[in-house]
Amino acid sequence: MKFIDLVKTRKSVRKYTDRPVSRENIDICLDAARLAPSACNSQPWSFVVVDDKDTKDKLAEAASSGIYRMNTFIKTAPVIIVVITEKSKYVARLGGTIRNVKYNLIDVGIACDHLTLQAAELGLGTCYLGWFHEKSVKKILGIPNSKKLDLIISLGYPENPELKTKLREPLDNLRRYFIPGL
Ligand SMILES: Cc1cc2nc3c(=O)[nH]c(=O)nc-3n(C[C@H](O)[C@H](O)[C@H](O)COP(=O)(O)O)c2cc1C
Repeated sequence: MKFIDLVKTRKSVRKYTDRPVSRENIDICLDAARLAPSACNSQPWSFVVVDDKDTKDKLAEAASSGIYRMNTFIKTAPVIIVVITEKSKYVARLGGTIRNVKYNLIDVGIACDHLTLQAAELGLGTCYLGWFHEKSVKKILGIPNSKKLDLIISLGYPENPELKTKLREPLDNLRRYFIPGL
């Protein structure tokens, strides 16, 4: 698939079939994430993969409880990947403080984009969730409170694999070529 077609194929999938996802395919997606660039090559990420149905059901329930209930759709996903935002290397944190940039968040975003695009290439659907009950997720998975979870990703075969129209700003609205002297 041409890269631009892959980009157009990836979409947020909020309804999944029961078809299980092989660990081989999960690892291919995580490997794509692992190869992402990061500030000072910090690689500030790790992943907890939940594909055991009982735990996944509990996790989905807890993650989308209360004010997070708009995300109850994750209950249909056979796999949930919890992304741990780790600390950047010292030099990247120092640079980030000077520049007022959280490089580890940028890095995690890039890694997760690799993951979701790789998933799309395998015919898998994903959806980022930034809105979830972090404390409950940590409790269920035994993740220490000191860790930061900024994203979870649902993964599975989409119920509707058709392409979705992208609602995006036209390029002309967000790009200008700099013209010297103007
Ligand atoms: C950082 C981030 C957080 C997101 N959080 C949620 C979420 O909590 N629930 C949800 O349904 N979609 C979430 N999304 C998906 C976006 O709504 C979606 O990517 C956007 O509407 C564009 O649609 P598309 O992914 O189908 O192209 C999130 C996406 C990103 C990048």
